[in-house]
Amino acid sequence: MAVLIKNGTVVTAEGEGKADVYLKGESIAAVGEDLSPESGDEVIDATGKYILPGGVDQHVHFSFTYNGSKVRGFETSNAAAVGGTTTLIEFVNQEKGRGLVETIEDYRKTDADGISMVDYAFHMVMTDPRDEVIDEIPAMAEAGYPTMKLFMAYKGMFFHADDDAILKALYKGKEAGVTIMVHAENADMIDVATKKLIAEGKTGPYYHAVSRPPVVEAEATRRAIYLAEMADAPLYVVHVTCREALEEIKAAYSRGQRIFGETCSHYLVLDTEDLARPDYEGAKYVCSPALRTKEHRDALWEAVDRKWLNAISSDHCGFDFAVQKHMGRGEGKSFADIPNGAPSLQNRLNILWTYGVCEGKISRSRLVDLFATMPAKINGLHKKGQLSAGFDADVVIFDPDYEGVITAANNLEGVDYTPFEGFKQKGRPETVFLRGEKIVDNARYIGRRGQGKFIAGKPFGASYEW
Ligand code: URP
Ligand code: ZN
Ligand code: ZN
Repeated sequence: MAVLIKNGTVVTAEGEGKADVYLKGESIAAVGEDLSPESGDEVIDATGKYILPGGVDQHVHFSFTYNGSKVRGFETSNAAAVGGTTTLIEFVNQEKGRGLVETIEDYRKTDADGISMVDYAFHMVMTDPRDEVIDEIPAMAEAGYPTMKLFMAYKGMFFHADDDAILKALYKGKEAGVTIMVHAENADMIDVATKKLIAEGKTGPYYHAVSRPPVVEAEATRRAIYLAEMADAPLYVVHVTCREALEEIKAAYSRGQRIFGETCSHYLVLDTEDLARPDYEGAKYVCSPALRTKEHRDALWEAVDRKWLNAISSDHCGFDFAVQKHMGRGEGKSFADIPNGAPSLQNRLNILWTYGVCEGKISRSRLVDLFATMPAKINGLHKKGQLSAGFDADVVIFDPDYEGVITAANNLEGVDYTPFEGFKQKGRPETVFLRGEKIVDNARYIGRRGQGKFIAGKPFGASYEW
Protein backbone atom coordinates (compact mmCIF):
# COMPACT_ATOMS: atom_id res chain seq x y z
CA MET A 1 0.00 0.00 0.00
CA ALA A 2 1.33 3.43 -0.92
CA VAL A 3 0.70 6.76 0.73
CA LEU A 4 0.85 10.15 -0.94
CA ILE A 5 1.21 13.11 1.41
CA LYS A 6 0.14 16.19 -0.50
CA ASN A 7 0.35 19.97 -0.04
CA GLY A 8 2.62 20.03 3.00
CA THR A 9 5.82 21.99 3.52
CA VAL A 10 8.75 19.60 3.36
CA VAL A 11 11.57 20.53 5.70
CA THR A 12 15.04 19.13 5.15
CA ALA A 13 18.44 20.00 6.61
CA GLU A 14 19.04 22.17 3.55
CA GLY A 15 15.81 24.15 3.37
CA GLU A 16 12.07 23.89 3.02
CA GLY A 17 9.38 24.19 0.36
CA LYS A 18 5.98 22.96 -0.73
CA ALA A 19 6.21 19.40 -2.02
CA ASP A 20 4.42 16.07 -2.00
CA VAL A 21 5.96 12.96 -0.47
CA TYR A 22 5.21 9.55 -1.91
CA LEU A 23 5.74 6.50 0.29
CA LYS A 24 5.78 3.12 -1.41
CA GLY A 25 6.41 0.00 0.61
CA GLU A 26 9.10 0.74 3.18
CA SER A 27 10.76 3.55 1.23
CA ILE A 28 10.24 7.08 0.02
CA ALA A 29 9.53 6.75 -3.69
CA ALA A 30 9.51 10.44 -4.58
CA VAL A 31 9.49 13.96 -3.19
CA GLY A 32 8.26 16.56 -5.66
CA GLU A 33 5.57 18.86 -6.91
CA ASP A 34 2.11 17.74 -7.97
CA LEU A 35 2.65 14.01 -7.59
CA SER A 36 -0.38 11.93 -8.59
CA PRO A 37 -1.62 8.89 -6.69
CA GLU A 38 -2.26 5.52 -8.22
CA SER A 39 -5.55 3.83 -7.62
CA GLY A 40 -5.82 2.42 -4.10
CA ASP A 41 -3.19 4.74 -2.63
CA GLU A 42 -3.99 6.58 0.58
CA VAL A 43 -3.84 10.33 0.01
CA ILE A 44 -3.26 12.63 2.98
CA ASP A 45 -3.87 16.34 2.65
CA ALA A 46 -1.13 18.01 4.71
CA THR A 47 -2.10 21.60 3.96
CA GLY A 48 -0.75 23.83 6.73
CA LYS A 49 1.48 21.05 8.07
CA TYR A 50 5.22 20.47 7.99
CA ILE A 51 6.66 17.20 6.75
CA LEU A 52 9.80 16.18 8.63
CA PRO A 53 11.96 13.07 8.52
CA GLY A 54 11.39 10.70 11.44
CA GLY A 55 13.78 11.58 14.24
CA VAL A 56 16.92 9.66 15.11
CA ASP A 57 17.69 9.75 18.82
CA GLN A 58 21.32 8.69 19.13
CA HIS A 59 21.46 8.77 22.93
CA VAL A 60 19.02 6.50 24.74
CA HIS A 61 19.36 4.33 27.85
CA PHE A 62 16.97 1.40 28.01
CA SER A 63 19.34 -0.88 29.90
CA PHE A 64 21.16 1.50 32.24
CA THR A 65 21.55 0.39 35.84
CA TYR A 66 22.70 2.73 38.59
CA ASN A 67 23.35 1.53 42.13
CA GLY A 68 21.40 -1.63 41.27
CA SER A 69 18.36 0.21 39.91
CA LYS A 70 17.33 -0.28 36.26
CA VAL A 71 15.50 2.01 33.87
CA ARG A 72 12.42 1.23 31.73
CA GLY A 73 13.28 -0.52 28.47
CA PHE A 74 12.20 -0.97 24.86
CA GLU A 75 8.64 -1.76 25.94
CA THR A 76 8.26 2.01 26.29
CA SER A 77 9.64 2.86 22.85
CA ASN A 78 6.18 3.90 21.61
CA ALA A 79 6.91 7.12 23.54
CA ALA A 80 9.56 7.84 20.93
CA ALA A 81 7.02 7.26 18.14
CA VAL A 82 4.48 9.76 19.44
CA GLY A 83 7.34 12.21 19.83
CA GLY A 84 8.25 11.88 16.15
CA THR A 85 11.34 9.72 16.68
CA THR A 86 11.45 6.59 14.55
CA THR A 87 14.98 5.34 15.25
CA LEU A 88 16.68 4.94 18.63
CA ILE A 89 20.29 4.18 19.38
CA GLU A 90 20.75 2.47 22.70
CA PHE A 91 23.96 2.24 24.76
CA VAL A 92 24.76 -1.30 25.85
CA ASN A 93 27.33 -1.77 28.60
CA GLN A 94 29.76 -4.57 27.87
CA GLU A 95 29.53 -7.28 30.51
CA LYS A 96 32.84 -7.91 32.26
CA GLY A 97 34.58 -11.00 30.95
CA ARG A 98 32.47 -11.10 27.79
CA GLY A 99 33.02 -9.94 24.24
CA LEU A 100 31.60 -6.84 22.61
CA VAL A 101 29.43 -8.39 19.91
CA GLU A 102 28.10 -11.17 22.13
CA THR A 103 27.05 -8.67 24.81
CA ILE A 104 25.12 -6.53 22.35
CA GLU A 105 23.58 -9.46 20.52
CA ASP A 106 22.41 -11.23 23.66
CA TYR A 107 20.85 -8.01 24.88
CA ARG A 108 19.36 -7.34 21.47
CA LYS A 109 17.68 -10.77 21.35
CA THR A 110 16.22 -10.63 24.85
CA ASP A 111 15.39 -6.96 25.27
CA ALA A 112 14.85 -5.33 21.87
CA ASP A 113 13.97 -7.77 19.07
CA GLY A 114 10.24 -8.39 18.99
CA ILE A 115 9.65 -5.62 21.51
CA SER A 116 10.74 -2.32 20.04
CA MET A 117 8.06 -0.19 18.43
CA VAL A 118 10.52 1.93 16.45
CA ASP A 119 13.71 1.00 14.61
CA TYR A 120 16.85 0.65 16.67
CA ALA A 121 20.62 0.39 16.60
CA PHE A 122 23.25 0.12 19.32
CA HIS A 123 26.38 1.76 20.64
CA MET A 124 28.79 -0.39 22.58
CA VAL A 125 30.01 0.87 25.96
CA MET A 126 33.38 -0.74 26.56
CA THR A 127 33.86 -1.61 30.23
CA ASP A 128 36.50 -4.34 30.06
CA PRO A 129 39.36 -3.18 27.81
CA ARG A 130 41.41 -6.38 27.70
CA ASP A 131 43.66 -6.82 24.65
CA GLU A 132 41.31 -9.32 23.02
CA VAL A 133 38.43 -6.91 23.52
CA ILE A 134 40.34 -4.09 21.84
CA ASP A 135 41.17 -6.50 19.02
CA GLU A 136 37.48 -7.25 18.60
CA ILE A 137 36.63 -3.62 17.73
CA PRO A 138 36.84 -4.08 13.93
CA ALA A 139 34.59 -7.16 14.09
CA MET A 140 32.11 -5.16 16.15
CA ALA A 141 31.98 -2.49 13.44
CA GLU A 142 31.53 -5.14 10.76
CA ALA A 143 28.63 -6.63 12.72
CA GLY A 144 26.72 -3.33 12.44
CA TYR A 145 27.88 -1.57 15.61
CA PRO A 146 30.26 1.18 14.42
CA THR A 147 30.17 3.39 17.52
CA MET A 148 31.59 2.92 20.99
CA LYS A 149 31.32 5.04 24.11
CA LEU A 150 33.57 5.24 27.13
CA PHE A 151 32.54 6.77 30.43
CA MET A 152 35.24 9.06 31.83
CA ALA A 153 32.93 9.80 34.79
CA TYR A 154 31.47 7.46 37.44
CA LYS A 155 34.58 6.54 39.47
CA GLY A 156 34.19 3.17 41.14
CA MET A 157 31.41 1.97 38.82
CA PHE A 158 32.20 -0.98 36.57
CA PHE A 159 31.60 1.09 33.44
CA HIS A 160 34.12 3.85 34.26
CA ALA A 161 36.99 3.99 31.73
CA ASP A 162 40.55 5.18 32.29
CA ASP A 163 42.55 7.12 29.73
CA ASP A 164 44.47 4.05 28.55
CA ALA A 165 41.21 2.38 27.51
CA ILE A 166 40.11 5.48 25.63
CA LEU A 167 43.43 5.81 23.82
CA LYS A 168 43.47 2.13 22.84
CA ALA A 169 39.88 2.40 21.60
CA LEU A 170 40.75 5.50 19.57
CA TYR A 171 43.71 3.78 17.89
CA LYS A 172 41.89 0.57 17.08
CA GLY A 173 38.60 2.29 16.30
CA LYS A 174 40.25 4.47 13.70
CA GLU A 175 41.45 1.41 11.74
CA ALA A 176 37.88 0.17 11.49
CA GLY A 177 35.93 3.42 11.10
CA VAL A 178 34.47 3.24 14.59
CA THR A 179 33.35 6.54 16.08
CA ILE A 180 34.61 6.72 19.64
CA MET A 181 32.33 8.66 21.98
CA VAL A 182 33.05 9.88 25.48
CA HIS A 183 31.02 10.95 28.47
CA ALA A 184 33.49 13.65 29.44
CA GLU A 185 33.67 14.40 33.16
CA ASN A 186 36.69 14.06 35.42
CA ALA A 187 35.77 11.20 37.76
CA ASP A 188 38.38 12.05 40.41
CA MET A 189 37.34 15.69 40.68
CA ILE A 190 33.74 14.58 41.18
CA ASP A 191 34.73 11.96 43.72
CA VAL A 192 36.75 14.36 45.88
CA ALA A 193 34.12 17.09 45.70
CA THR A 194 31.33 14.62 46.50
CA LYS A 195 33.06 13.29 49.61
CA LYS A 196 33.83 16.83 50.78
CA LEU A 197 30.22 17.97 50.33
CA ILE A 198 28.84 14.95 52.13
CA ALA A 199 31.27 15.48 55.02
CA GLU A 200 29.93 19.03 55.27
CA GLY A 201 26.37 17.72 55.43
CA LYS A 202 25.51 19.04 51.96
CA THR A 203 23.62 16.00 50.77
CA GLY A 204 20.50 17.25 48.93
CA PRO A 205 19.94 16.94 45.18
CA TYR A 206 21.18 20.48 44.48
CA TYR A 207 24.70 19.49 45.56
CA HIS A 208 24.86 17.09 42.63
CA ALA A 209 25.54 20.16 40.46
CA VAL A 210 28.02 21.58 42.98
CA SER A 211 29.96 18.31 42.94
CA ARG A 212 30.48 18.45 39.15
CA PRO A 213 30.79 22.06 37.96
CA PRO A 214 31.67 23.00 34.36
CA VAL A 215 35.42 22.74 35.00
CA VAL A 216 34.96 18.99 35.59
CA GLU A 217 33.45 18.63 32.13
CA ALA A 218 35.91 21.01 30.48
CA GLU A 219 38.94 19.16 31.86
CA ALA A 220 37.75 15.77 30.64
CA THR A 221 36.71 17.18 27.27
CA ARG A 222 40.15 18.69 26.79
CA ARG A 223 41.86 15.48 27.91
CA ALA A 224 39.78 13.37 25.53
CA ILE A 225 40.63 15.79 22.73
CA TYR A 226 44.34 15.35 23.47
CA LEU A 227 43.91 11.58 23.45
CA ALA A 228 42.20 11.84 20.06
CA GLU A 229 45.00 14.07 18.81
CA MET A 230 47.58 11.49 19.81
CA ALA A 231 45.65 8.75 17.99
CA ASP A 232 44.86 11.10 15.11
CA ALA A 233 41.29 9.83 15.37
CA PRO A 234 37.87 11.50 15.34
CA LEU A 235 36.11 11.92 18.66
CA TYR A 236 32.46 12.43 19.54
CA VAL A 237 31.62 14.12 22.86
CA VAL A 238 28.16 13.18 24.11
CA HIS A 239 25.90 15.49 26.13
CA VAL A 240 27.94 18.69 26.08
CA THR A 241 26.43 21.06 28.63
CA CYS A 242 28.64 24.09 29.25
CA ARG A 243 30.46 26.96 27.61
CA GLU A 244 33.86 25.76 28.77
CA ALA A 245 33.53 22.33 27.14
CA LEU A 246 32.18 23.98 24.00
CA GLU A 247 35.26 26.19 23.85
CA GLU A 248 37.49 23.10 23.98
CA ILE A 249 35.56 21.50 21.10
CA LYS A 250 35.60 24.65 18.99
CA ALA A 251 39.31 25.22 19.59
CA ALA A 252 40.20 21.65 18.65
CA TYR A 253 38.05 21.79 15.53
CA SER A 254 39.72 25.06 14.53
CA ARG A 255 43.12 23.40 14.96
CA GLY A 256 42.00 20.82 12.41
CA GLN A 257 40.92 17.98 14.67
CA ARG A 258 37.80 15.95 13.90
CA ILE A 259 36.02 16.71 17.16
CA PHE A 260 32.23 16.69 17.24
CA GLY A 261 29.56 16.78 19.90
CA GLU A 262 25.89 16.77 20.79
CA THR A 263 23.79 18.28 23.51
CA CYS A 264 20.45 17.09 24.88
CA SER A 265 17.02 18.65 25.11
CA HIS A 266 17.01 19.05 28.91
CA TYR A 267 20.23 21.11 28.92
CA LEU A 268 18.51 23.60 26.60
CA VAL A 269 15.50 24.36 28.80
CA LEU A 270 16.22 23.31 32.40
CA ASP A 271 18.79 24.67 34.84
CA THR A 272 20.37 24.32 38.27
CA GLU A 273 17.35 25.96 39.92
CA ASP A 274 15.38 22.82 39.07
CA LEU A 275 17.75 20.82 41.28
CA ALA A 276 16.79 23.10 44.18
CA ARG A 277 13.05 22.35 43.97
CA PRO A 278 11.42 21.57 47.34
CA ASP A 279 9.97 18.25 48.56
CA TYR A 280 12.89 16.35 47.10
CA GLU A 281 11.60 17.17 43.59
CA GLY A 282 15.15 18.29 42.76
CA ALA A 283 16.05 14.60 42.51
CA LYS A 284 14.04 14.40 39.27
CA TYR A 285 16.70 16.60 37.69
CA VAL A 286 19.78 14.68 38.78
CA CYS A 287 21.54 13.77 35.57
CA SER A 288 25.15 13.86 34.50
CA PRO A 289 26.72 16.13 33.52
CA ALA A 290 24.57 18.30 35.77
CA LEU A 291 22.11 20.94 34.65
CA ARG A 292 23.78 24.34 34.26
CA THR A 293 22.84 28.01 34.57
CA LYS A 294 21.09 30.12 31.94
CA GLU A 295 24.40 31.46 30.64
CA HIS A 296 25.35 27.94 29.54
CA ARG A 297 21.90 27.29 28.09
CA ASP A 298 22.31 30.34 25.87
CA ALA A 299 25.74 29.13 24.80
CA LEU A 300 24.28 25.74 23.86
CA TRP A 301 21.51 27.28 21.74
CA GLU A 302 24.12 29.32 19.92
CA ALA A 303 26.26 26.22 19.45
CA VAL A 304 23.50 24.11 17.92
CA ASP A 305 22.48 26.97 15.68
CA ARG A 306 26.03 27.57 14.43
CA LYS A 307 26.86 23.87 13.98
CA TRP A 308 29.45 23.80 16.74
CA LEU A 309 27.36 20.89 18.02
CA ASN A 310 25.75 18.65 15.44
CA ALA A 311 22.99 16.70 17.18
CA ILE A 312 20.41 17.04 19.93
CA SER A 313 19.59 13.81 21.71
CA SER A 314 17.37 12.90 24.63
CA ASP A 315 19.79 10.98 26.90
CA HIS A 316 16.55 9.34 27.92
CA CYS A 317 16.90 7.45 31.18
CA GLY A 318 13.64 6.20 32.67
CA PHE A 319 14.08 6.06 36.44
CA ASP A 320 10.91 6.81 38.34
CA PHE A 321 10.63 9.46 41.02
CA ALA A 322 8.57 7.67 43.67
CA VAL A 323 11.14 4.97 44.42
CA GLN A 324 14.29 5.17 42.33
CA LYS A 325 14.94 8.91 42.54
CA HIS A 326 14.37 8.65 46.33
CA MET A 327 17.38 6.39 46.76
CA GLY A 328 19.40 9.41 47.89
CA ARG A 329 17.03 10.34 50.71
CA GLY A 330 17.31 9.38 54.36
CA GLU A 331 19.91 8.67 56.98
CA GLY A 332 23.40 8.20 55.56
CA LYS A 333 22.24 8.89 52.00
CA SER A 334 23.10 11.72 49.63
CA PHE A 335 22.76 13.03 46.08
CA ALA A 336 25.45 10.51 45.12
CA ASP A 337 22.95 7.68 45.67
CA ILE A 338 20.33 9.13 43.31
CA PRO A 339 20.27 7.27 39.98
CA ASN A 340 21.55 9.62 37.28
CA GLY A 341 19.38 10.46 34.31
CA ALA A 342 15.98 11.80 33.34
CA PRO A 343 13.19 10.62 31.01
CA SER A 344 12.83 12.65 27.83
CA LEU A 345 12.26 10.25 24.95
CA GLN A 346 8.84 11.61 24.01
CA ASN A 347 9.44 15.34 24.14
CA ARG A 348 12.65 15.94 22.20
CA LEU A 349 10.89 17.34 19.13
CA ASN A 350 8.28 19.18 21.18
CA ILE A 351 10.99 20.96 23.18
CA LEU A 352 13.08 21.80 20.12
CA TRP A 353 10.12 23.13 18.21
CA THR A 354 8.52 25.13 21.02
CA TYR A 355 11.66 26.53 22.64
CA GLY A 356 13.98 26.47 19.63
CA VAL A 357 12.01 27.16 16.45
CA CYS A 358 9.13 29.16 17.94
CA GLU A 359 11.53 31.29 19.98
CA GLY A 360 13.71 31.98 16.94
CA LYS A 361 16.78 30.16 18.29
CA ILE A 362 17.03 27.67 15.43
CA SER A 363 15.40 27.39 12.03
CA ARG A 364 13.17 24.48 11.07
CA SER A 365 15.93 23.19 8.80
CA ARG A 366 18.43 23.34 11.58
CA LEU A 367 16.00 21.40 13.77
CA VAL A 368 15.71 18.67 11.15
CA ASP A 369 19.48 18.40 10.87
CA LEU A 370 19.97 18.16 14.64
CA PHE A 371 16.98 15.91 15.28
CA ALA A 372 17.29 13.44 12.41
CA THR A 373 19.74 14.00 9.56
CA MET A 374 23.07 14.36 11.36
CA PRO A 375 22.42 11.68 14.00
CA ALA A 376 21.74 9.24 11.15
CA LYS A 377 24.96 10.22 9.38
CA ILE A 378 27.10 10.14 12.51
CA ASN A 379 25.97 6.59 13.20
CA GLY A 380 26.19 5.24 9.67
CA LEU A 381 22.44 4.78 9.24
CA HIS A 382 22.40 5.43 5.54
CA LYS A 383 18.66 5.13 4.95
CA LYS A 384 17.51 7.18 7.91
CA GLY A 385 17.03 10.85 8.71
CA GLN A 386 16.25 12.30 5.26
CA LEU A 387 13.23 12.96 3.11
CA SER A 388 14.63 11.81 -0.22
CA ALA A 389 13.81 9.06 -2.65
CA GLY A 390 15.37 5.76 -1.59
CA PHE A 391 15.43 6.58 2.12
CA ASP A 392 13.27 4.71 4.60
CA ALA A 393 9.73 6.06 4.69
CA ASP A 394 10.07 7.37 8.25
CA VAL A 395 8.01 10.53 8.10
CA VAL A 396 6.40 12.95 10.54
CA ILE A 397 3.44 15.15 9.63
CA PHE A 398 3.78 17.98 12.11
CA ASP A 399 0.86 20.21 13.07
CA PRO A 400 2.25 23.64 14.03
CA ASP A 401 -1.12 24.92 15.26
CA TYR A 402 -1.54 22.54 18.18
CA GLU A 403 -1.16 24.11 21.62
CA GLY A 404 -0.93 22.12 24.81
CA VAL A 405 0.96 21.50 28.00
CA ILE A 406 3.50 18.74 28.57
CA THR A 407 2.52 16.43 31.40
CA ALA A 408 3.42 12.97 32.62
CA ALA A 409 -0.30 12.17 32.56
CA ASN A 410 -0.29 11.71 28.79
CA ASN A 411 3.22 10.39 28.42
CA LEU A 412 4.09 6.87 27.24
CA GLU A 413 7.57 6.71 28.76
CA GLY A 414 6.26 4.54 31.59
CA VAL A 415 7.90 6.78 34.18
CA ASP A 416 5.97 8.60 36.91
CA TYR A 417 7.24 12.04 35.97
CA THR A 418 8.57 14.16 33.17
CA PRO A 419 11.18 16.85 33.80
CA PHE A 420 9.16 19.09 31.47
CA GLU A 421 5.94 18.93 33.50
CA GLY A 422 3.81 22.03 32.89
CA PHE A 423 5.90 23.27 29.96
CA LYS A 424 3.85 24.90 27.22
CA GLN A 425 3.95 23.01 23.94
CA LYS A 426 3.38 24.45 20.50
CA GLY A 427 2.87 22.07 17.63
CA ARG A 428 2.98 18.29 17.73
CA PRO A 429 3.66 15.25 15.57
CA GLU A 430 0.22 14.41 14.26
CA THR A 431 0.97 11.44 12.02
CA VAL A 432 4.10 9.30 12.02
CA PHE A 433 5.16 6.62 9.55
CA LEU A 434 7.75 3.97 10.27
CA ARG A 435 9.06 2.47 7.02
CA GLY A 436 5.77 3.32 5.33
CA GLU A 437 3.43 2.07 8.08
CA LYS A 438 1.38 4.55 10.05
CA ILE A 439 2.28 4.17 13.71
CA VAL A 440 0.88 7.46 15.03
CA ASP A 441 -2.48 8.80 13.94
CA ASN A 442 -3.99 12.00 15.28
CA ALA A 443 -1.13 12.07 17.82
CA ARG A 444 -2.09 8.61 19.17
CA TYR A 445 0.17 5.58 18.98
CA ILE A 446 -1.48 2.91 16.81
CA GLY A 447 1.50 0.68 15.98
CA ARG A 448 2.45 -2.78 17.22
CA ARG A 449 4.93 -4.13 19.69
CA GLY A 450 7.87 -5.61 17.79
CA GLN A 451 7.26 -3.50 14.69
CA GLY A 452 10.65 -1.81 14.95
CA LYS A 453 13.61 -3.58 13.42
CA PHE A 454 17.32 -3.59 14.02
CA ILE A 455 19.24 -1.32 11.66
CA ALA A 456 22.92 -2.16 11.22
CA GLY A 457 25.16 0.89 11.23
CA LYS A 458 27.95 1.24 8.70
CA PRO A 459 31.50 2.14 9.80
CA PHE A 460 33.15 5.43 8.83
CA GLY A 461 30.21 7.63 9.81
CA ALA A 462 30.08 11.41 9.44
CA SER A 463 32.91 12.06 11.91
CA TYR A 464 35.24 10.48 9.35
CA GLU A 465 33.91 12.47 6.37
CA TRP A 466 34.84 16.07 6.38
O1 URP B 1 22.66 11.15 33.93
C1 URP B 1 22.74 10.50 32.91
N1 URP B 1 23.08 11.08 31.80
N2 URP B 1 22.47 9.19 32.95
C2 URP B 1 22.60 8.27 31.92
C3 URP B 1 23.99 7.77 31.77
C4 URP B 1 24.89 8.80 31.16
O2 URP B 1 25.75 9.29 31.83
O3 URP B 1 24.74 9.11 29.99
ZN1 ZN C 1 26.68 10.11 30.03
ZN1 ZN D 1 23.58 9.06 28.53
